[in-house]
Amino acid sequence: MKKIFSILLCSVISVMLYNGCETNRGEIIPYVRVDIYKNIYADLGTLGPMQSMLIQGGYNGIVLFRDDMDNFYAYDRTCTLWPEHNAAVVSDTVFEGVFVCPECHSKYLLSNDGQVISGPANYPLVRYRTSVSYDVLHIYN
Ligand code: FES
Repeated sequence: MKKIFSILLCSVISVMLYNGCETNRGEIIPYVRVDIYKNIYADLGTLGPMQSMLIQGGYNGIVLFRDDMDNFYAYDRTCTLWPEHNAAVVSDTVFEGVFVCPECHSKYLLSNDGQVISGPANYPLVRYRTSVSYDVLHIYN
């Protein structure tokens, strides 16, 4: 009975530790202050609906995605599987709006909050806030 109890206890502790590591790994993207302004016509005039554009900023660069004329999403390009690798996701060669880690080949869907559509990554791309006022897009955290 004592042996079964200790096996169960070890299993529970292992699961707790494992989940803790996974949670931390998904959240550890070094903080970088983001405070970027882009003119919608002068800077983003070539960015059509459902298209993406790379801009500087964030930890490993930012991918900006426009889902309609006034709705923008800004994601840090750091792959969330191993942020310490500094691997910046790149545009998929086949599917528009899908970005891929060049190291682990995890795929992220920009139109769905940067969620993972193909692992091994478990966590979505880190998203920065965006707001539009008149002709200016503000990207910030
Ligand atoms: S970052 Fe090295 S695994 Fe995706």
